[in-house]
Amino acid sequence: MINLNVKYLEKNINTKKVFEDYKGNVSKYSNLIDEKKIKGAEMLGWLDYPKEISKDLIQEIEGYAKKFRSKNIKNILVISIGGSYTALRAAVDMCIPPYNRDVNIYYVPGISSNYIYSLKQKLEKEDFSIIVISKSGGTIEPAISLRIFYELLIKKYGVEESKNRVVAITSETKGSLIKIAKKYNWKTFFIPEDIGGRFSALCPVGLVPMAMLGLDIKNIIKGALKARKDTSNKTIEKNTAYQYAVLRHYFYSKLRKKIEVFGSYDEENFYFIEHLKQLFGESEGKNHKGLFPTIARYTTDLHSIGQFLQDGSPIFFETLLIVKNANKDLKFKKLFDDLDNLDYVIQKTVGEINNIACKSTMEAHLLDGGSSTIQIVVEKIDEETFGYLYYWFSKSVTMSALLLNQNPFDQPGVEAYKKRMIDNIKKK
Ligand code: PA5
Repeated sequence: MINLNVKYLEKNINTKKVFEDYKGNVSKYSNLIDEKKIKGAEMLGWLDYPKEISKDLIQEIEGYAKKFRSKNIKNILVISIGGSYTALRAAVDMCIPPYNRDVNIYYVPGISSNYIYSLKQKLEKEDFSIIVISKSGGTIEPAISLRIFYELLIKKYGVEESKNRVVAITSETKGSLIKIAKKYNWKTFFIPEDIGGRFSALCPVGLVPMAMLGLDIKNIIKGALKARKDTSNKTIEKNTAYQYAVLRHYFYSKLRKKIEVFGSYDEENFYFIEHLKQLFGESEGKNHKGLFPTIARYTTDLHSIGQFLQDGSPIFFETLLIVKNANKDLKFKKLFDDLDNLDYVIQKTVGEINNIACKSTMEAHLLDGGSSTIQIVVEKIDEETFGYLYYWFSKSVTMSALLLNQNPFDQPGVEAYKKRMIDNIKKK
């Protein structure tokens, strides 16, 4: 389902030789992953989850979503942050066009007061339900936002009806969210203890809201299962997820590149590249090591950081998520008597021109700017592709972090700010 295209790499990079050089390490780490003997192995629950998820749980999620959708509640508010947020948003954006949703979805991924104030004002006048997601059940941002919006919910509907309007997705045993959910009788779904935030979109963290929005979660799992099969091959020549991990490591360690720019030319994929920023940044950026991940939203960013990428410090390489075929497309017709001198677009489609923009930029970045682009190419975007991509990148980041001798699954830096923030709020 994925084609790893390395056509736009600098000429002196011999990928065959690079893969050959990493063969030993890839084989060693892939065995250790499968035997669950790597650093952080206790958080490898996501590896087999798409195979192990029970039919009963899928049925329960679908049943809950069906019941929710039959109530015709027009707005869902998702309160979550980081790994418990980004990939879910990516799946929704990829699979449902923004102006064609029967249920509106709003997110509270931070504590910006103007944003929260205006969203609260809007929901005061409209019908809504809350999904609150937190693995630890104690992350301060979602916990604070929940207070604001639950207060509004009970003001509008009362405590009794509010029971039917909140779903909490959290740890079964830890944190305060589960205690609140139990006390107020909210519907709950549990996050397996051995799956961390940024690896959790294929468990209830992602599947429950996706199903409530109308996505086909069985197809998401189908895609993940395909990726699981394809990425279980231990030979680097046959495993594109490991090839990508190796190329990243080669850029970082041999070519001294410090930055990876994740890019897309499709609006609907911008949250997926946000997820990649999250996944690689949190999994690898530790112990004073790791590529700094950033994103480029094309073509708009060609008119901003495009300048730097073409002509600035050569400290980066790019990874583009390319979708070969747009799901919907529009053809240009004759107009304006060619006063805009644009008749050469007649009979071409918007999608074709977007693809030409992408090709031209990769050419310019490589031939004039001297920087490389790795392309991750998929045929089309739908639930199955999301499931595939999500699992494929999870596998890739695991290998990539291990090549840097990191634990892919912890985030000590994040925990450090969380603790200081709580201490400082208490002091104030
Ligand atoms: O990937 C991760 O583990 C983090 O980004 C967490 O998802 C994020 O910090 C939110 O944590 P929690 O779900 O416990 O509220």
